[in-house]
Amino acid sequence: MTKPVLHPLPTTGAITGTLEALAFFRDPLFAKKRFNRLGNIFETSMLGQPIVFIQGSQAITDLLSQPEAIEGWWPESVKQLLGSYSLANRNGGAHKARRKVIAQLFSSSALQSYSPSIIKLIEDLGVELRTAKRPISLVKKMRRFAFSVIATTVLGLEGNDRDELFADFEIWTKALFSIPIALPWSPFAKALKARERLLDKFQEVLAQTSQNKGGLALLTGGLDEEGIPLSNADLGEQLLLLLFAGYETTASALSCLMQQLLLNPELEAWLHEEINNLAWPPSAETATTSYDRSNAPKLDALINEVMRINPPVGGFFRRTKRSLVLENIVVPANRVVQVALNASNLHGIGDLEVFRPQRHLEEKSSLNLLPFGGGERVCLGKALAELEIRLMVVGLFRNLRLSIVPNQDFTMQPLPSPSPRDGLLVNIKT
Ligand code: HEM
Repeated sequence: MTKPVLHPLPTTGAITGTLEALAFFRDPLFAKKRFNRLGNIFETSMLGQPIVFIQGSQAITDLLSQPEAIEGWWPESVKQLLGSYSLANRNGGAHKARRKVIAQLFSSSALQSYSPSIIKLIEDLGVELRTAKRPISLVKKMRRFAFSVIATTVLGLEGNDRDELFADFEIWTKALFSIPIALPWSPFAKALKARERLLDKFQEVLAQTSQNKGGLALLTGGLDEEGIPLSNADLGEQLLLLLFAGYETTASALSCLMQQLLLNPELEAWLHEEINNLAWPPSAETATTSYDRSNAPKLDALINEVMRINPPVGGFFRRTKRSLVLENIVVPANRVVQVALNASNLHGIGDLEVFRPQRHLEEKSSLNLLPFGGGERVCLGKALAELEIRLMVVGLFRNLRLSIVPNQDFTMQPLPSPSPRDGLLVNIKT
C-alpha cells in the first residue's frame, strides 16, 4: 500500500489574532468563510492563541479516534468558572472516574424516576400560557424549564431555593465567555462571586442528601481515580457543570424548534399528523420510550434537523498532546483544535442550507451529525435532553395552539447557544 502524502497545516497567516477574535464573535460565518478558502482544516490565531479549526466527518472522526493524542480544553474564563475539580477540566483517569460517577444520574431507571417531575413542569407551563393576559416569551420559559428540570430532578430543589439558584446561575452564565479579569464590577468578578454562592448552596444540598428526593441520592459510593470517595467539594463542581452543560443547550434546542414550528404552519401541521395520535401524559414507566424514534419518527427528525441547523454547541475544543494526522494534514503537538459543528453540519452535497426535517427519514440520508459530541467526552446528558425535548413538544403542542407575535427579530443570538433575539413572544390562539 502506498503511504498517503501528508500536507502542512494551511493557515490564515494571523499572528496577534486581534482582528480574528473580533471577527469570530461578530461573524456567524467566520469559520465557513475560512473553510471555503483554506479547506477542511486550517489554523488561525485569536488574541495570541493559535487555534486549529476542523470540519467534516473525516477530520472529526480522525481526531476523536485518537484519544491518547488529545485532551479536553476550555477557554480560561470557562476553566476558572467551572473549577479545577470539574469533569470538564480533568483528563485521563481523573476524568474517567468522575464520568462514571455522574453517569449514574442518567441511567434509564434514573430518567424514569425524573419523568413525573418533568411532566409536571410542562403541565404547569401549559396552565401559565393558557391563563396569560399578555404575550409570553418562550425563550425565557424554556430557560426556566431546562434549569428547573436539573434543579428539581438532580438536586431535589423546589420553590424559593430553586429561584435563588436560578438568579445566581444567570449571573454566572453571562461571564462564561468573557475576558477572565476580575476587576470589581466586571461580569467576570460578579460571576466568581455567584460561583461561590452556588457552591455553598450545593454543599447545603449535599449535606441533606439522605432526605433529598433528587437523583443525588444515586451518587453514593462514587470513587475517584485512586478509589477514594469523591469529596463534597469535588461533587459540588460536578453539579455546577451539570447545570452549565444541561440548561443553556436544552433551552436553545427547544426555543429554536418552537420558532421553526410557529413560523412554518405546514411544518406544524406535518408534526400534528403524528403527535395528535400520541397519548399525553405518558405514565412514568412509558415516558422514556413513548415519543422516541420508533413511536414518533417525525418528532425525532424535527429535533435532528433543528440541532443540525442551530447546533446548541456550535463547537467544542481539544488540545493535541502530540502531533497527529487529520485527513492527511499534520497538526502539530500543543495546538488547540476547535471541532466546528456549526460549519460541519452545512458541509457536503445537497440542499444542506435548507431546513428540511424529512431528510432524516430518507433512507439515503448519510449525514454524520454529532450534536452531542463524540468519543470519550460525549455528552453525559444526551438521554435526559432528548427526553425533556420530546416531552415538552408533545405536551405543549398537542394540547395548545400558539400564535407568534408579529414584528419580532427572529434572527439568532449565537452565544453561548443560539436563541431567538426577541425571546419568541407568543399568545394563545383563541
Ligand atoms: C440539547 C442539549 C445538549 C447538547 C446539544 C449537548 C451537547 C454536548 C456536547 C457537544 C458535549 C461534548 C463537549 C466536548 O466534547 O468537549 C457535551 C458534554 C457534556 N454534556 Fe451535554 N448537551 C446537552 C444537554 C446536556 C444535559 C441535559 C446534561 C446534563 C444535565 C449534559 C451534560 C453534559 C456533561 C456533563 C458533559 C461533559 C462530558 C465530559 O466532559 O466527559 N448535557 N454536551
